[in-house]
Amino acid sequence: MNQELVAQMNDQITKELYSGYIYLGMAAYFEDEGLSGFAHWMKRQAAEESEHAMKIFEFLAERGERVQLGAIEQPRLEYESPLEVFRAGLEHEEYVTGLINDLYETALDKKDHATAIFLQWFVTEQVEEEDSFTRMIEDLQRVGDEGRGLFMMDRGAAARE
Ligand code: FEO
Repeated sequence: MNQELVAQMNDQITKELYSGYIYLGMAAYFEDEGLSGFAHWMKRQAAEESEHAMKIFEFLAERGERVQLGAIEQPRLEYESPLEVFRAGLEHEEYVTGLINDLYETALDKKDHATAIFLQWFVTEQVEEEDSFTRMIEDLQRVGDEGRGLFMMDRGAAARE
């Protein structure tokens, strides 16, 4: 494989793990706020990010490339409100979508069709990722500061698989 592309793929492994770390930080905030359903939702999200990282890990290994793991910085731990958490999550997902699009463009540029096809799953996944955060934001905006609505939403978030 082209080594510039390999380096970018390796960087994405770190970014996916960092994403999981950000969501674990959000889960910790929700635990502290007594919102265990939202905490569960974020722990599931963090687990998905580990799966994303591992998909790339396995792909590089399968292609005979060396997996390089970078440092993961400390995530943000304090937030003002559930709405702020999900807005920060959406903003992060939009950033990740940009990274995936850049990766996809590098794969095409290097004429690595196998990697481009592999990355198509991530391109589609990002649509879903942004959508799940957007839906939480919309519901939270509808609920506002009304305690009962937030309680019901927390219950709903607990059911995420
Ligand atoms: Fe792995 Fe949420 O993007």
